[in-house]
Amino acid sequence: MDRQAGKKRAGEEAAKYVERGMTLGLGTGSTARYFVDALAAKTADGWHLRGVPTSQETRRQAEAIGIEIITPDETTVIDLAVDGTDEADPQMNLIKGGGAALLREKIVAGAARRFIVIADKSKRVAALGAFALPVEIEPFGWALTVRHIRAALLGAGFDGAGVELRAREGAVVKSDGGHLILDCALGRIDDPANLDGTLKAIPGVIETGLFCGMADMIIYADETGVSIDQA
Ligand code: A5P
Repeated sequence: MDRQAGKKRAGEEAAKYVERGMTLGLGTGSTARYFVDALAAKTADGWHLRGVPTSQETRRQAEAIGIEIITPDETTVIDLAVDGTDEADPQMNLIKGGGAALLREKIVAGAARRFIVIADKSKRVAALGAFALPVEIEPFGWALTVRHIRAALLGAGFDGAGVELRAREGAVVKSDGGHLILDCALGRIDDPANLDGTLKAIPGVIETGLFCGMADMIIYADETGVSIDQA
């Protein structure tokens, strides 16, 4: 499967749901990038679009094509949020956060009237968990928070879960909000909503990459076509 072709097609398909004058939640990652690329033709045609970006990277891209950038606090309405995902199950639960933007992504998706997820077809899985679950935590007391997370995971039946502080090229990764990201290798997650609640009850945990019951539509694509899951 040509995953890039699938991502591009899914992004272009989602752009068809954008209407003139909309305020958009703009996701982060390579698939969301294709969606923003597809908006360039609309702004070039004189459409006025406003965007609430979920990362600095998306902000720069959206600004460059003439989307008016606003913060979530400058609007009461986000008409449509569009974002990628790392995994999605048939119930439309997601694991997100591979790009470390999960907190902002969840705030924006949760505020939107409609949330469309875009993905190449390889992201559709029978059950979540092959992708390590990102968890965003506060730097203060992070080692203590990690100990609590390990204990909670053990208590929830995830024996042998690997919990790693995300680092790239020797440097600890921080989210745009200055938080740390843990990647939790869990294996199959049978009850994602319950796990989300368990983890968020731990002091120091800011957000998890489990997006449960949030997506209204998932557009999957590959080089041959598009398929849609709808809530
Ligand atoms: C960013 O934090 C993520 O939630 C991305 O949306 C997710 O990792 C999907 O990324 P790609 O579209 O690059 O696969």
